[in-house]
Amino acid sequence: MKKVINSILLVMFIVTVTSCDKSKRAPNLQFMPNMYEPVSYETYGENGIYDNGMASRLPVDRTIARDAEFPYDYPNTPEGYEAAKSNLMNPLGSDLDSKKGKALYSIYCASCHGSKGEGQGELVKREKFLGIPNYKDRDITEGSIYHVIMVGKNMMGSHSSQLTEEERWQVVAYVQELNNSF
Ligand code: HEC
Repeated sequence: MKKVINSILLVMFIVTVTSCDKSKRAPNLQFMPNMYEPVSYETYGENGIYDNGMASRLPVDRTIARDAEFPYDYPNTPEGYEAAKSNLMNPLGSDLDSKKGKALYSIYCASCHGSKGEGQGELVKREKFLGIPNYKDRDITEGSIYHVIMVGKNMMGSHSSQLTEEERWQVVAYVQELNNSF
């Protein structure tokens, strides 16, 4: 009986020791090995899978991705500002949600421009930021307001990344509302 137990223990010992053999790292059997070891192509590398001879297809020239914003044609120059001021019009029509414009204005603009656009925002009151104009003293149009949101003006930085195109026009509508209200 002792012998049997001893030989079982011996077998278990051998199994334990040999199962930890680190020299055999590769799995014994791979189902669908391509799933484990995919062939990676260089994105713009040469490849015969597409007509253009590359591993990826480029978008057709002068096309824009579906959800991408349209390019903004007015450069950040005095000429670009003047061109936007006279030519740029709100393309979204008049049914802009002015409540939303007001909410966005209070988040992104009021800290400098003040809740009424008078140029006395919290940062100005605390003397953290100076030189904020009263909208009333500026000759502004919907195009110029949009342009300033897009590219900024002197000390004012661009706010294009914080607002979508529709949101920018909502803010523009609200700034015009403020400007007409006093
Ligand atoms: C950090 C402070 C600051 C914030 C925030 C800010 N502005 Fe301004 N804004 C300025 C300053 C400074 C000027 C004056 C720029 C100049 O003419 O030199 C200005 C000018 C303007 C003008 C007048 C430009 C012109 O044509 O004369 C408009 C319109 C305007 N801002 C709109 C906005 C709107 C809309 C927002 C929010 C999306 C905003 N600003 C956020 C600082 C700010």
